[in-house]
Amino acid sequence: MAVTLRSPHEIELMRVAGKLAADVLIMIEPYVKAGVTTGELDDICQDYIENTQHAISACLGYHGYPKCVCISVNEEICHGIPGTRHLKNGDIVNIDVTVIKDNYYGDTSKMFIVGGHTVPINSRLVKTTQECLYAGLRTIYAGSNLMDIGASIQKIADREGFSIVRDYCGHGIGNVFHDEPTVLHYKNKDSLVLQEGMTFTVEPMINVGTWKTKVNKKNGWTVTTADKLGSAQYEHTIVVTKDGCEVLTIRPEEEEAGVISRILHNRPE
Ligand code: MF3
Ligand code: CO
Ligand code: CO
Repeated sequence: MAVTLRSPHEIELMRVAGKLAADVLIMIEPYVKAGVTTGELDDICQDYIENTQHAISACLGYHGYPKCVCISVNEEICHGIPGTRHLKNGDIVNIDVTVIKDNYYGDTSKMFIVGGHTVPINSRLVKTTQECLYAGLRTIYAGSNLMDIGASIQKIADREGFSIVRDYCGHGIGNVFHDEPTVLHYKNKDSLVLQEGMTFTVEPMINVGTWKTKVNKKNGWTVTTADKLGSAQYEHTIVVTKDGCEVLTIRPEEEEAGVISRILHNRPE
């Protein structure tokens, strides 16, 4: 199936939506503390998205999803439904935010370590997962292959002895939530040639133990690792440019850390 190429006007709308999604992650940071419930964090996000940003949560009501954001703790991989779970020091927590503004979507997630410290294996997992996202993003330019993303992520995960979730992927995004292409985060043979104006997410989910997943039977949503060991995820929405990509959901903390910038020049000389 053909992948939609976005016009400069559409990309401008996605810049706005991307910034709003990133802003939610920045706003929520000081509330991610021991004792808070994931449901309370969701309420704060919902109030901010609706009443401050005048935007819409793409998740609320999506295929019946009941909450505003996804909050996935420790062994939860993704689609954690906020509720009565109290966070405790050392928990590793992913908050995944997708907002819609003027019909365009921005989708991003990051990890929080409650209290700032966790066990060494989880801390290495979180670091590695972010490194996987950045490595994937650094392969992208008009003319590169989609499979370069997965290959670069696999190298890092293998080096660290972690596994990569295979059942959930990145996705095209624009004026719809989940579109072509499907972005695999592991070594694969998808030779799709990237073109300027393609917009999609890269969102590796990396596990300490097995890559195998389980969906919570009671709520139908929350995905956990089959072995209950830890999982981490980072996600950005990008647009492919001639020379690289533009990270539409970048946060200032990332640029300040000097690890990545909004505009990436990735094309080899
Ligand atoms: N934000 C998730 C993604 O990265 C999708 C969440 S769908 C929901 O694609 F319904 F669970 F919210
Ligand atoms: Co996504
Ligand atoms: Co997401």
